[in-house]
Amino acid sequence: MKICVIGMGYVGLVAAAGLAGPDRKVVGVESDPAKLRLLYQGEVPIHEPGLDELVRAHAESKQLCFTDRIEEGLAGADFALVAVGTPARLDGRVDLSALYRVSEQIVRNAVHPITVVMKSTVPPGTGRALTERFFSKSATRIRYASNPEFLREGQAVKDWFSPDRIVVGSDDQDVATRVLALYAGIQAPKIRTSVVSAEMIKYAANAFLATKISFINEIATICELVGADVTEVAPALGMDVRIGSQFLRAGIGYGGSCFPKDTKGLEQLSSLNGYDFALLKAVIEVNRRQRISAVRKLRAALGGLLDKRVAVLGLAFKPGTDDVRESPAIEIISYLVDEGAAVSACDPVAVANARTVLPDSVELFQDPYDAVRNSNAVLLATEWDDFTGMDWTKVKRLMAPPFVVFDGRNALARASLEALGFRYSGIGRQGAGDGDEVSTNITFGKKRASQV
Ligand code: UGA
Repeated sequence: MKICVIGMGYVGLVAAAGLAGPDRKVVGVESDPAKLRLLYQGEVPIHEPGLDELVRAHAESKQLCFTDRIEEGLAGADFALVAVGTPARLDGRVDLSALYRVSEQIVRNAVHPITVVMKSTVPPGTGRALTERFFSKSATRIRYASNPEFLREGQAVKDWFSPDRIVVGSDDQDVATRVLALYAGIQAPKIRTSVVSAEMIKYAANAFLATKISFINEIATICELVGADVTEVAPALGMDVRIGSQFLRAGIGYGGSCFPKDTKGLEQLSSLNGYDFALLKAVIEVNRRQRISAVRKLRAALGGLLDKRVAVLGLAFKPGTDDVRESPAIEIISYLVDEGAAVSACDPVAVANARTVLPDSVELFQDPYDAVRNSNAVLLATEWDDFTGMDWTKVKRLMAPPFVVFDGRNALARASLEALGFRYSGIGRQGAGDGDEVSTNITFGKKRASQV
């Protein structure tokens, strides 16, 4: 069997490496020359634990190869898995242009029957539209299935081999059976749905997880106002099996290439269909607020940001990845710089990616101890073990007064830090920075919680 996977982002590359095997030759198609060069050399263009080894092993046994020529990938292939980017446009709608391009190319190059399997996240209704606009017009039979992917960055390989479920949406049972057979070796519930339901499952899953995060962040804000501690509240909440303990970590909000884009995409889709998805709008707004609230707290704890030095620990949108897309750290840094703070920052793997999006004035370091030197405040933005496990006595020695630690992920040992003389502040718990400082351009204060 031959499988062509189009788009070597983290979904496409993991799928290509996960599907390759003795009886399956996989050809990965990638149009970016820089990415392709790395893949030819047996290197993986993203930081994804376990992926290098998997790609290299299959490439060496010739079960996996790469090309920039889609016609080469499609020649003789039984399946064309599509995993190209579907980024957000400025108005929040999803940009499907890459998908249209690829669909046209598939139609142009299909000389024998082939099944298109959609792995890119696409708004519900896209499969039907692509079939009408492209695939049904092909002289050769092209069948279609939606097979949404639920991989998390940073544990994508693990998620590929042990998913919670596999969803295949097709209006043809035979197609669904053949697509599910690709996952024969994987133990997981296998769900058959219509194409549009499969597309909806993906959006609903991400929107629900984002809602859970914004919900706990709202509870955290109320905790601050009434004197409760969200790190005590959330675990007890999560013990109710109907609620579940995951995605109840309050913090500076969700980021990445998925939640921000998919929540806005679903909200736009609802609106285009005449429905005001008020709950989802609030989820998006709460997430925006968490970032601004971090700036407000730092400003209050430091008595203004002008000429203060802030060290930001973590640039990736979460630990385990070098992805800085929509990372809360990046946005917070831009506010700090705008307000006149000197910012130094570090990350174990995301410094190179962050350099391309951060203002030049931000000093970047590989070593967190270099980043915290002479800083008045430290912001923990990404809870990498490298940071939570730091020697905080040494950090204190390197820092300057007033020794503020703003724990944007509630991941540090508050009591030990306070014992060392740090002014600790977290999310949803009392601490430094809960005052009423008001900026000239961001007017949020404790007494104005309803406006935040
Ligand atoms: C997310 C979903 O979890 C995957 O199932 C999905 O396949 C993927 O999007 C996608 O659509 O491609 P990912 O973006 O890799 O995966 O990241 P998550 O681990 O879900 O975290 C997203 C953000 O939420 C991070 O910024 C994280 O710090 C934040 N988060 C997560 C919280 O703030 N609190 C939590 O309790 C959990």
